[in-house]
Amino acid sequence: MTAEVWPITDTFAAEIGDVDLSKPLSGDDWQVIEDAFNTYSVLVFPDQRLKQDEHVAFARRFGPIDMSMIADMDAGDLRVAPEIADVSNLTLEGEVMDADNRMIEFQRANRLWHTDSSFKPTPANASLLYMQAIPPVGGLTDFADMRAAWDALDDGLKVKIEGKVALHSIATSRAKMGFEMTPDENAAYPRVPQVMVRTHRASGRKSIYIASHVGEIVDMPEKETLALVDALMAHATQRQFVYTHRWRLNDLVIWDNKCTLHRGRDFDDLRWPRDAQRATSLDIGPTCEQEGIAVPLAAE
Ligand code: OGA
Ligand code: MN
Repeated sequence: MTAEVWPITDTFAAEIGDVDLSKPLSGDDWQVIEDAFNTYSVLVFPDQRLKQDEHVAFARRFGPIDMSMIADMDAGDLRVAPEIADVSNLTLEGEVMDADNRMIEFQRANRLWHTDSSFKPTPANASLLYMQAIPPVGGLTDFADMRAAWDALDDGLKVKIEGKVALHSIATSRAKMGFEMTPDENAAYPRVPQVMVRTHRASGRKSIYIASHVGEIVDMPEKETLALVDALMAHATQRQFVYTHRWRLNDLVIWDNKCTLHRGRDFDDLRWPRDAQRATSLDIGPTCEQEGIAVPLAAE
């Protein structure tokens, strides 16, 4: 059997069946998966049984591993391998975090629309989120199609953002949710420049590239920046561009951070365990470099 693609929506999300990701992939299976990843942006692999090293090994097929920033934070010992971002609400002992655990606020910022690691010079390519415990209600994940959102953007806004560079910082999105970075964490993650319109290599299609991490647009006054980012977000996350995933235990969901936004939806995170683990691959380089745009500002 070769891996099979079962579309969930016409162009944005698909399920992939008849493949066991814990085993080495055949060349044919990889080809099906890579083509599906480039055509769709969100792939759902139901009922996978992955050890952490198998999860990371599959992520490596999409690029070098993007190490979790949580390993660099004042967050105590890690529950998972450092190649995996722990996006759960669980302590080292596997208990649901208390309200005063600083990492619970950090995790809650995932409920703002974002694309992974756009606050790092080289941002994420694919994210592979593996679900090991699900709350009985809530905790869905929304994905928004930034290629479709670009196609539907009005010409005035297209002209306004093409060639523009935004500054992304993890401190910006965390501040919106009341999470305070330490001085050391801030020093480790200065704001970085990213283009606002990208070209998707495999499909040649353009996409909007923004996130809740954006605090500034180069050569634009602050007031205008906030209004523009709000307008773009409102446009880009309209229902017709969004696929909402309702998790099943042992789902592995992969998304293309180059051309999507995502957000975790609310759930009672002081009550229900939700054990989500993400292995992430890096893109090929900073987006300004990829688009041939001179970096207008040192990332500091
Ligand atoms: C992530 C993320 C959202 C969720 O893993 O990068 O944003 O629903 N997750 O867990
Ligand atoms: Mn994320």
